[in-house]
Amino acid sequence: MKTRFVALALTLAFVSSAFAQSNRTHVLSSENTSLVVTTNDGGTAYYQYFGPKIQDSDIKGFFGVKSNYTGNTLPAFGIHSAGEKALAVEMPDGNMSVDLGMESVERTRDAQGEVLVLTFKDKVKDYPLTVKQYFKNYEGTDVFSTWTEMTNAGRKGEMTLLTFASAAVPLTREDNWVTQFHGGWGSESYMSEECLPNGQVVLSDKAGLRNAFGSNAGFMVSIGGKATENRGEVFGGNLMWSGNYKTRIVATNNGLTVFSGINEETSTYHLAAGETFRTPEFVMAYSTEGKGGVSRAFHRWARKYALHAGDKLRDILLNSWEGVYFKVNQEVMDQMMGDIASLGGELFVMDDGWFGDKYPRDNDHTSLGDWMVAKGKLPQGIKGLTDAARKHGIKFGIWIEPEMANTKSELYENHPDWVLHQDNRPITTGRGGTQVVLDLCNPKVQDFVFGITDNLLSENPEIAYIKWDCNADIMNYGSPYLPKNRQSEIYIRYHMGLRNVLERIRAKYPDVVIQVCASGGGRVTYGLLPWFDEFWTSDNTDAYQRLFIQWSDSHFYPAIAQASHVSASPNHQTGRVVPLKFRFDVAMTGRLGMELQPKNMTDEEKAFAKRAVAAYKQIRPVVQLGDQYRLLSPYDRGAAAAVMYVNPEKTRAAVFAYRIDYLHGQQLLKLKLDGIDENRNYRIKDLTPQDETRPCNLNGQLVSGRILKQAGLNLSGALGRPWTSVCLELTAE
Ligand code: DGJ
Repeated sequence: MKTRFVALALTLAFVSSAFAQSNRTHVLSSENTSLVVTTNDGGTAYYQYFGPKIQDSDIKGFFGVKSNYTGNTLPAFGIHSAGEKALAVEMPDGNMSVDLGMESVERTRDAQGEVLVLTFKDKVKDYPLTVKQYFKNYEGTDVFSTWTEMTNAGRKGEMTLLTFASAAVPLTREDNWVTQFHGGWGSESYMSEECLPNGQVVLSDKAGLRNAFGSNAGFMVSIGGKATENRGEVFGGNLMWSGNYKTRIVATNNGLTVFSGINEETSTYHLAAGETFRTPEFVMAYSTEGKGGVSRAFHRWARKYALHAGDKLRDILLNSWEGVYFKVNQEVMDQMMGDIASLGGELFVMDDGWFGDKYPRDNDHTSLGDWMVAKGKLPQGIKGLTDAARKHGIKFGIWIEPEMANTKSELYENHPDWVLHQDNRPITTGRGGTQVVLDLCNPKVQDFVFGITDNLLSENPEIAYIKWDCNADIMNYGSPYLPKNRQSEIYIRYHMGLRNVLERIRAKYPDVVIQVCASGGGRVTYGLLPWFDEFWTSDNTDAYQRLFIQWSDSHFYPAIAQASHVSASPNHQTGRVVPLKFRFDVAMTGRLGMELQPKNMTDEEKAFAKRAVAAYKQIRPVVQLGDQYRLLSPYDRGAAAAVMYVNPEKTRAAVFAYRIDYLHGQQLLKLKLDGIDENRNYRIKDLTPQDETRPCNLNGQLVSGRILKQAGLNLSGALGRPWTSVCLELTAE
């Protein structure tokens, strides 16, 4: 791929000089996509193209073409002040204009791919602002990214960044549809798709810490009509930032531009002389294979670059939360470990409730910050637990919420100044009436948070997994650490501090599996996943509602990262009663786990769970590392929902289908298996029959890929009334 790229670049340099002296065209290409930027010496840079891969012979057509695609790569405020901007800066003398001129263009590489760097300087020497704009292709994937770096290159005087988007990408304005994801606790990531009107669609977050609750930063825009899962042109974008973000999709009759970056509202950022600010990466993909094409591009990229250890299979675990909540003790943990081991599980995670000395954590009112074992509950300490895990032949994991404190904690008593607050106002508290947020802008607090993890892992090297929770938004906006003229930077500096901590943890503990959790799915974000192996999808473990949430999350986030647990019935959040098989068939589409008290299961349920765990192990590589095809959407409110995974060679697939509604006479659609190879034949195996001796009618059949893709799989014999489901393994013969 590299050779081809270089060849194209060289030819383009030649073509470019033949066509125009001052314009230069720069192409970044992946296997299937090209990004073309034109630069003008002393002037500006323009996007010319982002779409299906182009050849060098195609390039001449771009010159001088003022299509509705073309757009300035970095629209700045002050000379032309009208319209939306990506950059606005207040200069040391109070002047609020920026007028950038192109200084140089460099093509380089970093550890992940090819990078194009445009360097601009303000045309007025008295305004020593340097801006570098980056465009990158992540090698071996169809994901591109862009970001900027602003430097105050002066010797004195502070500049203030007022607007600092990572990206301003133009798209073709033609019957565009926007897909976006919104929700709240227990109903994260609900998908909606609307025709884009003229004006603006704004996706924004201001929660401070849990930036995926209200809305997810991932979105798609289709071009030239509503896209389907497999057909149509679709642009997908996402922001690699864990704090407040803002994406503006700005449309008029003849243009469409996507601006995305940190939400600068109440977040002006100061650049002292010599300081540089780097915006987070905006990641984007383009596909002519519909929304599924964009999703698969993001999944492959995530597993390779944006998810910690994205190529390593995840363990099957039992988490203690819904099983015992805060009622943690040595005996119960031991019993749960024994049970999950006997079901074939590989890891046990002790959730909340295990810590606090002066204030043992019996509920959510106390103890955050006091990360020592509650001796009354766990007299043998964590060692007692890792010993028990070893005895049962499984691994051990533990829950922490290290960015937080309770006002009822030894930490708060000793360090009230480590908590975000305002000196002259009473402190407002969150969960449990006492929860407060640590000031991660403060390097000492960063050391403390790093130390929580470091102490646990260095004192207990057998801890294999950490669940890192975060159950608050930013309250009491005020950092005792930052000076008064930097208070507007809390929303940003908090996350720089958090990154610093995570970098240190990963440098020392690359092999520990860490889950990011924020009251459920509040942190499903590429702003954090590079340091985490997976995310907790939602505190709502109801299998039916999970079909919706998981379907949405799958638009940008791969199955391997999606923690999906089988919980008790009736479900604790919705009260819904669904069979254990259905619950397993749903949870098996992500990283399978359980979250219940196994002691309360019947022998028959345990026997089924054991078979389902074994079945998951069989298809785990296909689900966790394969390509996902969304087949029937639960959002269509039809009779069924379905999804499939296939390995890259298309020799093995796993198909999951669920009956979710039943009206007499309602037709079950034939399930067209989009991901299958038409030129192969596949043997079907029912992997999770309720009764081992009576698999579904499809079991054992040999079916041609062409039939599966074009005519579809007839599920009417396999799916009956609501809450029936199948998990089928397809093997090429
Ligand atoms: C919120 C998480 O989402 C839950 O899974 C659980 O860990 C609780 N916190 C524990 O307090």
